Amino acid sequence: MIPHVSIIPTLSIILTIISQVYANDPKCDCYIVSGPEPGYFQNYRFWDFRYMPPEPKLAKEYDFPPLGNDGDTIKHDGDAGPLLKTPVLLKDTKFANEWVVQSWSRGSSSLFPIRLVNSEQNVFITNDPLRKDATNLVMRTTRLEDHSSTAEIETQSRNILHCSIRVKLRLFGGDAILQPPISGKSTSGQDENECQEGGELVEPEVLASPPGGACAGIFTYYDTASESDIEILTSDPPNRIHYANQPDYDFAKDEMIPGASTVVDLPVQWTSWTTHRLDWFSKDSLWWVDGIMHDRKTYSVPYHPSMLVINLWSDGGNWTGNMAVGDCVYMGIEWIEIAYNATTDGADISDELPNRRHPNHFLNTANIANEFAREGDPEKLSDNSGESDGKEETAVPRECRVACRIDDVQHNGFPEVVWDYST
Ligand SMILES: *[C@@H]1O[C@H](CO)[C@@H](O)[C@H](O)[C@H]1NC(C)=O
Ligand SMILES: *[C@@H]1O[C@H](CO)[C@@H](O)[C@H](O)[C@H]1NC(C)=O
Repeated sequence: MIPHVSIIPTLSIILTIISQVYANDPKCDCYIVSGPEPGYFQNYRFWDFRYMPPEPKLAKEYDFPPLGNDGDTIKHDGDAGPLLKTPVLLKDTKFANEWVVQSWSRGSSSLFPIRLVNSEQNVFITNDPLRKDATNLVMRTTRLEDHSSTAEIETQSRNILHCSIRVKLRLFGGDAILQPPISGKSTSGQDENECQEGGELVEPEVLASPPGGACAGIFTYYDTASESDIEILTSDPPNRIHYANQPDYDFAKDEMIPGASTVVDLPVQWTSWTTHRLDWFSKDSLWWVDGIMHDRKTYSVPYHPSMLVINLWSDGGNWTGNMAVGDCVYMGIEWIEIAYNATTDGADISDELPNRRHPNHFLNTANIANEFAREGDPEKLSDNSGESDGKEETAVPRECRVACRIDDVQHNGFPEVVWDYST
């Protein structure tokens, strides 16, 4: 009989060790992505949300290393019951060193009738509602009586210049997930957690479709004219997606700019796990889903150092539509992967004009400044001037002696050597 007390380190500890190695794979000098313009990038990160250790001590140190085995069984010790007893707010994890969970808000107006309040309570790690052995990062938006409670994360780095970002996600509704306990009232004075009214958690066979009226975004952002977007509207059919480089609207002519935005009907649905990818090169923007390219643009490719943003929101305006009071939309995320270059100078990203949607049908430009004014920004982002990524940010081009690919690898998150001239 094997004694119950094990001297083998737990998987959690092993994963922690792996993660320290994989933050930037030391064997790789650069990272190559698949595609017609196989650019190479100097930095690489992969955060995997599928195994959050339930032990608070380990959870604190956990930095979301890749698990490998994409989509397969996740092996972990302990019984097969739900992993987490209580969801963990993302802001309380190490992820928050690199991505900042937002808490700014924006008032209502005639064009965006519903006040929008970003809440840290809406970004958490919880059990995968359909799997006993996995956790997910979940972003949530809820329509309350007088505002939408929304979710947004932004990279701490604002000096990203060209990247390939991939997010494996699915959107859903209903009350299938274990939600975080309410910790106090939101800025608006209302509970943010109305989607689970003390009832028992029903473990579903399938997830409910998300109600309409919300928008999920994955984008690079410098300002509203230097931005590259993936957007999903929950009012659309579940295979429809929107790609754009900004600006996509000509306010003087009051019409869409040709070539700026594309509506694509995908062969897959975003209500199932799908991997969304945006490549930002110097002359091209490329959009992919599950390894297949669906759009390519040369119009208005951003050229400013930028940050990356993932959000889920609704403001009752023309773009998102409106959610019914009490409705909740969730975006589950299994992992986020980025390969990127960074400049040494911090980007001068304006906080006065956050992308909080350039609405599609403005009548004139004069409205815009007012519409986008922030309503107070209690947690001003630090003016990160590019020190955060340490040694990798040197402006002097390095040789790329060891190149690794990140696509078509055996396990997502584990780059594989393509060439090695290091010896
Ligand atoms: C919103 O969209 C509707 C229908 O597309 C349009 O008639 C209306 O003018 C738009 N509203 C604004 C404020 O642009
Ligand atoms: C990333 O930076 C390196 C070094 O400056 C450069 O050679 C490479 O082309 C850059 N990649 C992209 C996609 O811009």
